[in-house]
Amino acid sequence: MKEYKLIGPITQLISLEKPKHKGPIKDEDLSIINEAGILIKGNKIDTISTFSDLKNKINPLQTELIELSSNHICVPGFIDCHTHICFSGSRARDYAMRNSGKSYLEIAETGGGIWNTVTQTRSAKQEELTIGVIKRANNLLKNGITTVEVKSGYGLSVEEELKMLRAIQNANHATETDLIPTCLAAHILPKDFNGNHSAYLEEICNSLFPILKSEKLTNRIDAFVEQSAFTAADIYPYLKKAKDMNFDITVHADQFTPGGSEIAIKTDAITADHLEASTQKEIDMLAKSNVISVALPGASIGLGCNFTPARKILNAGGAIAIASDWNPGSAPMGDLLMQACVLGTFEKLSNAELLAGITSRAAAALNLRDRGRLVSGMLADFNLFQTDHFNEIFYHQGKLTPSQVWKKGDLVYQQ
Ligand code: NIG
Ligand code: FE
Repeated sequence: MKEYKLIGPITQLISLEKPKHKGPIKDEDLSIINEAGILIKGNKIDTISTFSDLKNKINPLQTELIELSSNHICVPGFIDCHTHICFSGSRARDYAMRNSGKSYLEIAETGGGIWNTVTQTRSAKQEELTIGVIKRANNLLKNGITTVEVKSGYGLSVEEELKMLRAIQNANHATETDLIPTCLAAHILPKDFNGNHSAYLEEICNSLFPILKSEKLTNRIDAFVEQSAFTAADIYPYLKKAKDMNFDITVHADQFTPGGSEIAIKTDAITADHLEASTQKEIDMLAKSNVISVALPGASIGLGCNFTPARKILNAGGAIAIASDWNPGSAPMGDLLMQACVLGTFEKLSNAELLAGITSRAAAALNLRDRGRLVSGMLADFNLFQTDHFNEIFYHQGKLTPSQVWKKGDLVYQQ
């Protein structure tokens, strides 16, 4: 096998070389190279330049030449920075009840809601969960998603959360997609816990956190801050402790009522996700902070709620990443590109903002510095779309899918 691979000519390569981390973005900020080539060495990008330039420079004996005979657009591999794809069972009944006008409470009282998925996930074997995650991750890969964050949060006891995170760890070894695990033991107070919210959180801190470290199961802690889950007062000491143990923090914030985003800022979280209920006060606070706002249009579509105020957050100077929130309850679709496109039409986001939201800004949302842009030294994770302009990707609202997906320097999917 040759040491290098050279791919091209690529009609437009969107490198995001000098990413703007915050505020609005236009096409000019994307660093677009026309008639480009991409030189790969091992699992990384060696050089990005024009195809003719690279062709002149390479040693043909050391380089496999992959010539494209039609128009192609190259973008970084997509990153879905917020999902719950480790679960068992279906919540189709919740969905039908919700659409027929039943309230959150009515659904929960008749056996639906997050607790329903907890029950079904607890009765699954670890291996079954692993198989489910691999299947979903492999499907995402075909849509160009080369990195996926996966939360626990349907175990809700030390042992059951460990089962979920071990299942995710094992799945990570069996799929080409990189899985980034997150512990969401603070999803809701489990019905069978003998004690109050703070007693539960204390048990998680004392008994689960040390094992997360020793088994290297995750370095990320998430919490659902909401009246029906954990209040700001409950969660602050929990996240503070996690921070002191050097975990990265992320928060399900302001989904139905404001409050979580302030906790995210106070605990120096990497991201605050949801924000559908954020008011101008929260928007301004987030924009001033280093916390990245994660819009989850899939939850708005699944619940029939308003979208994250992404335009306002960007205009105030904040950063917006976009994720699918794929979960069996509020966001059962799990189609990142389609959802980003829909968010764009409702929130009036530029295609540049959408692309950054699922690449460079999504990498920042996971605190990953080795991906999300196409520059020398980064992982060779990228998608080729058979079209002549990158606007086409968003125009087709998710129906134009990659013709080739490359992960760590290898072609892993082709259609
Ligand atoms: O991100 N908001 C809380 N948790 C999930 C929903 C999980 C579920 O309904 O199973 C969310 O939307
Ligand atoms: Fe979520």
